[in-house]
Amino acid sequence: MAKITYIEHGGMVHVVDVPVDKTVMEGARDNSIPGIEADCGGACACATCHVYVDPNWVERLPPKDPMEEDMLDFAYEPDPIRSRLTCQIRIDDRLDGLVVKMPEKQI
Ligand code: FES
Repeated sequence: MAKITYIEHGGMVHVVDVPVDKTVMEGARDNSIPGIEADCGGACACATCHVYVDPNWVERLPPKDPMEEDMLDFAYEPDPIRSRLTCQIRIDDRLDGLVVKMPEKQI
């Protein structure tokens, strides 16, 4: 279990426990947190699960694979350093305390 903080674009903060082996996207979806749409259900094919990772966490996440890197080009205002697709981040204990912020909109 990892405690993940999701911050909506407007500033509303949601702190939830997400089970290991779920993704950060599933943690938002399963807790009805707005701002992550995940239209493709986690197949890395829509870019509507885009977030900006807190700067303190960027280096601590597993690196992006080429498919995520390509799909991020379709996200709304992606940041080259902080943007990630939450369906591609799988929870493990090392992610306890992760903070992500949603963009103004998803595409
Ligand atoms: Fe579609 Fe992540 S849910 S790319």
